[in-house]
Amino acid sequence: MKQTLKNMFIKDKRVIIRCDFNVPIKGGNVLDDTKIVKSLKTLNYLLENNCKVIIISHLGRIKTEEDKKDNSLLPVKNTLENLLNTNILFEKDILSEETKNKALNLKPKEVMLLENIRFLDVPNKLESTLNEETAKKLASLGEVFVLEAFASAHRNHTSVVGIAKYLPNCIGFLFEEELNMLNNYILEPVKPFTVLMGGAKVDDKLEIIKSLLPKCDYLLVSGGIANSFLSTLGLNVGASLKTENKTIIEELKTLMLEYKEKFAFPLDAIVETTYDNKPSLKAINKIEDNDLIKDIGAKTITKYSDIINNSKTIFLNGTMGVYEEEEFKNGTIEIFKTLKNTQGNVIIGGGDTISAMNNLGFKNTFKNVSSGGGATLEYIAKNTLPGIDAINEEDNIETLDL
Ligand code: 3PG
Repeated sequence: MKQTLKNMFIKDKRVIIRCDFNVPIKGGNVLDDTKIVKSLKTLNYLLENNCKVIIISHLGRIKTEEDKKDNSLLPVKNTLENLLNTNILFEKDILSEETKNKALNLKPKEVMLLENIRFLDVPNKLESTLNEETAKKLASLGEVFVLEAFASAHRNHTSVVGIAKYLPNCIGFLFEEELNMLNNYILEPVKPFTVLMGGAKVDDKLEIIKSLLPKCDYLLVSGGIANSFLSTLGLNVGASLKTENKTIIEELKTLMLEYKEKFAFPLDAIVETTYDNKPSLKAINKIEDNDLIKDIGAKTITKYSDIINNSKTIFLNGTMGVYEEEEFKNGTIEIFKTLKNTQGNVIIGGGDTISAMNNLGFKNTFKNVSSGGGATLEYIAKNTLPGIDAINEEDNIETLDL
């Protein structure tokens, strides 16, 4: 068992907490604060213990200077100030001496939020390449490190894995809850075990799909992932998103041969044509060049629902279609309805999936919700994550400041 927050001596300490505040933001407003709210238990516990709290998080993917414009954590600061009912110091210059001095001079119950840690990736990839010097600098801001970002624990990044090497460390309450929940249902899932996976890019998910297939009984796919498989099978997916990478296409072929009986693909789709933007229902072998697949159709809903209802453990990551658009939300709604009424253990995972669940009227419907998308899939596949490995074991008492 990993070191937990309850067992750490944190009173009055400067605590660095790595949260996952990778939340949807539009026009400077946080659209869904679920991930932030879920971290409040840990943050409030730190404040009750007179800690000086330094929060680190990423937001979005930062590859260019341009990406920084829309991915500041400032809107998160505002949301968090309201939720914690306290003022928060927002530090843009993450590695500067000035920020360090402010951190060292924080008073009990004061909170500092650092700007999006992935801003350090441009130009030098100081976050995503697990840079030891940067890890040391970040660690020097605090006295204890708490990893609360379960949804980021699959990233071998400086702020997830690196800081833990230089400070006494533990997992936060949310992290612990997520781990316990997944260990209960997923490590040795009651079978049949079905995974529903939506998402745009198969390239991102290929490794996970490869590790999941031996573990699950059925893999139901939708979105760009489904399109890539369908196109590899020789079907026309029109103008829909699919992989163009030849090596990946070869791998998909091999997987489909090896795990033929485990895959379930859409039978029909709601498409939009690129010239008139009108939705229509089409059989999956009748998609035309100008069609964009944007949701699953009625036959697919029935097929996927039957598999779900015959499963004892079901994990959902991703949506069935472009649920944000009125005409294309039906597939996702119907699958949520099936999951709500099925007898098996249902686990919902991932920020986008949670946003869909909340927006489509299923808030508080499911007991087992994991903030992790990619992280949870990887945990299911590998039974550990780089972030988990980085945290000390519970009995590692030399890290306790007693
Ligand atoms: C997520 O939303 O799944 C996590 O915040 C991880 O984000 P990432 O895939 O950009 O690392």
